[in-house]
Amino acid sequence: MRGFCGMKYKQLIERAKEAMDKAYAPYSRFRVGAALLCGSGRIFSGANIENASYGVTCCAERVALFKAVSEGETEFDAIAVVSGSKMPTYPCGVCRQALFEFSPKMKVIAAAEENYQITTLDALLPCAFSGKDMEN
Ligand code: THU
Repeated sequence: MRGFCGMKYKQLIERAKEAMDKAYAPYSRFRVGAALLCGSGRIFSGANIENASYGVTCCAERVALFKAVSEGETEFDAIAVVSGSKMPTYPCGVCRQALFEFSPKMKVIAAAEENYQITTLDALLPCAFSGKDMEN
């Protein structure tokens, strides 16, 4: 879905942009910011943090998620993602799985300089693996 973006999501995009300024990305030079809106109304943001040992790098989305969960938040309404790209940036597969653990129905707002796209996490991760798959 493109187009309509309520006030609260505009604010979320702004918070993601602010977070992007704190990206530590000396290796890829690809800066990403994310802002996560919790069910409680609180917002947690994050930026990508790279490492000389490349695999240790953590995406902006998981930085925001882990900040929120470690502060007691486990229900999420939406996440906004911004990057230096002209194109909208969506969460990578690992981040989709990490977010899915908590709120499969959350909105994902992939914002670019002048436009944005909105979808839901479960649409981005069909047939996802979850704790339910271990019940039978
Ligand atoms: N990255 C994110 O932070 N989020 C995404 O959704 C895609 C990728 C980061 C990881 C790495 O620091 C850089 O972008 C290039 O992959």
